[in-house]
This record gives sequence, structure tokens and C-alpha cells, in this order.
Amino acid sequence: MTFAGGRAASAPLMGRESEPTLFELSVPGRRAFQLRTTGVPERSLHELIPVEHLNDEVVDVAEVSERDLVAHFTRLSHRQFSVDLGMYPLGSCTMKYNPKFCDAVAADPGLNGVHPGTPATLCQGWLALLATLEERLCAITGMSAATLQPAAGAAGELTGLLLMRAYHESRGDVRTRVLIPDSAHGTNPASVTLGGYEVTTIPSNDRGLVDLAALKSALGPDVAGIMLTNPNTVGLFEEEITEIATAVHDVGGLLYYDGANLNAIVGVVRPGDMGFDIVHMNLHKTFATPHGGGGPGAGPVAVAARLAPFLPGPKATRVDGRYDWVTPEHSIGRVHGWHGNAMVLARALAYIEVHGGDGLTRVAQHAVLNANWLRHRLRDLLPAAYDRVNMHECTLSASNLKAAYGVKGLDVAKALLEEGFHAPTVYFPLIVDEALMFEPTETESLQTLEALAQALERIVERAHVDPEGLRQAPKTTPVSRVDEALAARRLRPTADAR
Ligand SMILES: Cc1ncc(COP(=O)(O)O)c(C=O)c1O
Repeated sequence: MTFAGGRAASAPLMGRESEPTLFELSVPGRRAFQLRTTGVPERSLHELIPVEHLNDEVVDVAEVSERDLVAHFTRLSHRQFSVDLGMYPLGSCTMKYNPKFCDAVAADPGLNGVHPGTPATLCQGWLALLATLEERLCAITGMSAATLQPAAGAAGELTGLLLMRAYHESRGDVRTRVLIPDSAHGTNPASVTLGGYEVTTIPSNDRGLVDLAALKSALGPDVAGIMLTNPNTVGLFEEEITEIATAVHDVGGLLYYDGANLNAIVGVVRPGDMGFDIVHMNLHKTFATPHGGGGPGAGPVAVAARLAPFLPGPKATRVDGRYDWVTPEHSIGRVHGWHGNAMVLARALAYIEVHGGDGLTRVAQHAVLNANWLRHRLRDLLPAAYDRVNMHECTLSASNLKAAYGVKGLDVAKALLEEGFHAPTVYFPLIVDEALMFEPTETESLQTLEALAQALERIVERAHVDPEGLRQAPKTTPVSRVDEALAARRLRPTADAR
């Protein structure tokens, strides 16, 4: 028997049954939660809001009970893959397990109950936390000062480019170009363009590194700087980094370090010692905030002393034995409405303090060891694009499977979902054919790495016997193969889109 109104909130968790939307669950008059009384005298909206701002149309909202709402979101959460559920070897993204003590710190009411507009005199603890984090990040990167405001890596990149611009302009130096290797993450050229510069792309050599000769021939007095990540996006250390730094500095350019891959070197080498002038860090990769899914991140930018006067402000600063908000002398202004994504900053400091310098060094060492173990273990299945010692991630290629069976890197990645692993990064960096980039991170055990290798063995075996089946994988997940291009171009997150 069915009843008029919304759908039932109970449905099979596994298999292909789709989860109803909140609107499909909706029944007029149902409410999730109602306070019996607030104790505050009720006043009509007309008394509180000017009439021109009042909406006179009925707004269509889903009407669901708390019970149905909780069931809906819990069910959806069970259909997600997450870092807390299993291995998530998404290269370049550092999807490592984030320790729960960092959650506990961020949940502390003494921290999260404070409004960001609270006067400095009343939140000295918060300012001390921010100032200490700035110090620690400078120690880790070999820089002099930092801003904690940027809300993500890409926001950090733009901040860095605006700092580059402010620095050159303060010297009356007009520069128009920024160099970027062809293996760079897409946010790099986007940030350069937003920062008002032109991109000059530098090719990689056959070892997957910046082609030094091509770099030198692209240099000139109009070059504002270069953006690099080291290890680079293929997972390889730029061995000629000091020559690169000298060449760029010799023409008056600055070196920008995209710190997305900091997990590979944290506590081992410092970008400042390699010659970098500006560094962004993705705290949501290296320092204990789950990355992805649209959640808040943080992309602090640390700089060499000569760039410190241009940093965004205000910054938590120790003045006469107390903390205050101070804006650097030639600040480029704010890059965040308040002081940054504060809870991500608190988590990062907790992570750094609990690990200590030696603990952070071990993080990088284990991340690199795990990635090398994996590359070596998979050598006969999926050859590495550059078969030599890599850093924290290894870029493999499915081009042999494509040539032999028409099975692509995407098919391998999709099939991994059925094996209980999140997919690796696919088709990035663009310079590798059928790229599958695995970043196991330091938090996976040898047993888990071996289980991943065995899952890949089964998938390659399937490519021999059932390539068509692989091209349709996954079949057992709640959502099967989707047309990703269509989904991105025609996003219709409503029931009738299914
Ligand atoms: C190499 C690299 N640079 C920059 C970014 C941008 O960072 P965010 O996603 O925090 O904006 C990423 C993101 O994954 C990246 O991998």
C-alpha cells in the first residue's frame, strides 16, 4: 500500500536503489525540529524587516521530519567514499588520514565559540595560536613571515602573485610574464592570469623535470617569476632547483613554491633553502584537514623578508608583551573577510605540535617510502611514466592496457571503486599518456598497500579476459558509470535529472 505525499526514508543501502531527494521525502506540515518556546517575545516579520525586503511569494522548501532528514543524510554518507573509510590514493591531493585529536581541538568551545570580530584584548589565546602557527610554518618552509588568510591553495597562489606584483611595482619594475612548467596544476596558470600576468609554459625534459635550457632561453627582464612545485606533479624532485633559482634570480625574477606537495619534504628540506621567495601551503593536505568535497581549506602564504611588508593584514602580532592585529606597512590588503579559515588553522597547529619536528620528518619519509614501494610493486602491471626513485607519489600509465585491450586508465580507476579503494588521480599531469597517479601517503600500512596492489592485479587480469566488462565498471556501487562530461556541462541536481 502507498500513501499520498512523500516517499519512505528507508531503502536498501547497497545496490542500485537511488536515494530520494529531500523534496521527494517532503510531506506538507512536517518539521524537523521546533523549539517549544524560546522565551523571547515573538514579533512579526513586518516589525523587523522593511517591507520592500520581504518576499511575498511562497518559497518552496522540503518539509521533512527530523527522523527522515537524519536517515537521508546518514544514508547518503554511507554511499560516499572517504578518508575515514579506506585508502584514498588520489595523487596530488594528499588524502591522508587526519588524526581525531585535531577534530577535538577544532571542537573546543574556547576556540570555536569566539566571534572573529572579538577585540584582540579579549581573545589573546586565539591570537597567540595564530602567531605561533605563523612561526611554525615559517620554520618549516624557511621563510620570514606569513599570512594565514588565504582560504585554499588556489587563493594562496593568487595572494602570492599579488605579492610578486606589489614587490616589483614597489621597485618601479614593470614585468609581464610568469613561467610555469607544462606539468603544472591547472590552478597555476589560472592564478597567473588572475594576477595580471601572461603565462610562458616551460616544457619538461624526458626525465619529467623542468628543461633547464628551455627555461634559460625563456628568461628575460620582463619575467616576474616562476611557479614551481617540488617535488613536481609527476612526483619527481627537481634536481636542478638551485640552478633554476639562480637563473631566475639573475634576471630579477622571484620563485613561487606551490606547496601542494609539501607532504613529501616536510621536516626534510625547506623551500627557502632551495631558493624560493614565496610559498603557499595547503594545510588541508599536509596538516590534518580532510581535503576535497568542498569543505574549508587553508592556503597560508609564507615569504622571504623582502616581501614581508606586502603581506595581507591584519596579522596577529606580538606587541609589547601582548598580541594585537597589525597590518604590514605596504600590505596588499585583505584576501579574506576575517582572519582565514580559523578552525583549519587550529587543526594544523595541533598537528604540528603533536608531531614535533622529528614526527614531521617521519611523515615525509614514510610518504616517500610508501609511494616508492607501490611503484616498485606495480612495476610489471602498470609501468611508471618515469621509472626511477620518486617522492610521495608515483605516476603510472595504463597506455599498455589501452594498446592491448582498449582498457583505459579511467576504466582501471573505476574498477578500483568496486575493489573498495578510491580511484587514483587520472589523466593528470597532462604530459603522461593514460596517467594514473597514486599518492598512498604515510598513513597507509604495508598490508593496505599490498591489498591495493592485489586489487590492481585482479583488474589487469580482467582486462585480459573481459575488457568490455571493465569498460562498464563499476557495477556494484550505488552509482554506476556516469557521463562525467555531460554531468559537468549540464548540472541538474534534481530528481528528474536521473
Ligand atoms: C599541485 C597543486 N597546486 C595547487 C592546488 C590547488 O589547491 P586547492 O585545491 O587548495 O585550491 C592543488 C590541488 O589539489 C594541487 O594539487
